Amino acid sequence: MKIYIGCDHAGYEMKAEIIRMLTEKGHDVEDMGGDGGRVEYPVIAKKVGHAVAENEGARGILICGTGIGMSLAANKIKGIRAALCADHFSAKYTRLHNDANIMCMGARTLGIGVALELAELFVDTPFEGGRHAARVDMIREMEEEF
Ligand code: RB5
Repeated sequence: MKIYIGCDHAGYEMKAEIIRMLTEKGHDVEDMGGDGGRVEYPVIAKKVGHAVAENEGARGILICGTGIGMSLAANKIKGIRAALCADHFSAKYTRLHNDANIMCMGARTLGIGVALELAELFVDTPFEGGRHAARVDMIREMEEEF
């Protein structure tokens, strides 16, 4: 799977570990920055969000201190459904029910072991479709309406 990943200065070490794990599992992971130096999270959220929105089937992972700034910024991009996750159930069900295409995590709120498992779950879990597809369509309609 094509996975675009990005972080600000708070998330650099966590990002490196996640890239290593996903690459070892055979995924095509593209690092969209940052490089460990200070970078404002909306800059990176915009890059990853655009890449995911433009590439059907691709997913994104964004990491900042809390994951909150990244999720707020990424969700401004049409076609992006970015979910802030800090537990296994949310990472699984945001794929099954919301068809989230970006997962955001907080490097200052999560241990690396949990973060690696959440990233794996997010990438491996398919969208369930069915009644959930109609709900995701309602989100798409809101993008056109507002
Ligand atoms: C950076 O200090 C911090 O504000 C940022 O990583 C993030 O947590 C914002 O939501």
